[in-house]
Amino acid sequence: MDLRHELSIMTLGERLLVSQDSLSSAPRVLDVGTGTGLWAIDIADKCSGGGEVVGIDLSPIQPRWVPPNCHFLVDDAEKTWDDSKKYNLVHIRYMEGAFTDWPWIFEQVMTVLEPGGIIEVHGIDFCPYAQEGEVPEVILTWIAQLYDITKKRGRPIDVIGGYETWMEAAGFVDVEKHEFAQPLGPWAKDKRQKTIGVLNLEATLNGVEAYTLEPFREAGWSLKEATVLIALVRHACQENWYGNQLHTKLVVVTARKPGGAR
Ligand SMILES: C[S@@+](CC[C@H](N)C(=O)[O-])C[C@H]1O[C@@H](n2cnc3c(N)ncnc32)[C@H](O)[C@@H]1O
Repeated sequence: MDLRHELSIMTLGERLLVSQDSLSSAPRVLDVGTGTGLWAIDIADKCSGGGEVVGIDLSPIQPRWVPPNCHFLVDDAEKTWDDSKKYNLVHIRYMEGAFTDWPWIFEQVMTVLEPGGIIEVHGIDFCPYAQEGEVPEVILTWIAQLYDITKKRGRPIDVIGGYETWMEAAGFVDVEKHEFAQPLGPWAKDKRQKTIGVLNLEATLNGVEAYTLEPFREAGWSLKEATVLIALVRHACQENWYGNQLHTKLVVVTARKPGGAR
């Protein structure tokens, strides 16, 4: 995940947020499912006026030495949120497959945002696309199985397409989708895009196992079957870079709670 953090920053043009410019110098920020907390720490460092950055996660895997305006809490985002504290921005990144009920999560975000507050959700579109040639069949089959198995287990991974509708249903306005293409592999001519491609390939090779093993085992696949599929998908991601020029997409959806000064 730490690799994905660097990849995100590079993809967004050395930024942590699409709406970074609308943030005050001392915002109150909530990072939901903060993981190792790198994003929360980096945004806290960027807030020259202080403010407060809170990262919540099921697991206490964050570092102890953090900026004074940043802290972490063990909390379950699937339990009703404490709305006694209000935030200017709620950030949710790489949480596809984590939640059973995304529309409810967006309703909870609404309760903790100040009027005019911003939500930013960043996610990976798992299905690669080919600029030239075709996406290898084994990757398409894996994606279809991943979508089906995660949907059946109640924590679907194929949720990015729903974010805009669910945000609007929760009452958000100015809902906007931003898509950032990321080369998969070192095939791009441009130096920066090549680096993004190398990082993306490494993150994807790690991610294939992380996203597949547990759900597929739960769905009745043997360890051997799952391991073989993972190996085939990884191999396909590394094959014929220059021929099919695979991309994946970083998708960011931003929206605003109505009210407040603009
Ligand atoms: C894929 S990681 C994403 C980490 C981080 N957002 C990032 O961008 O690097 C998913 C994280 O969500 C956390 N998580 C999953 N379900 C959660 C829940 N119900 N409440 C809080 N955190 C949760 C996991 O513990 C894990 O650290």
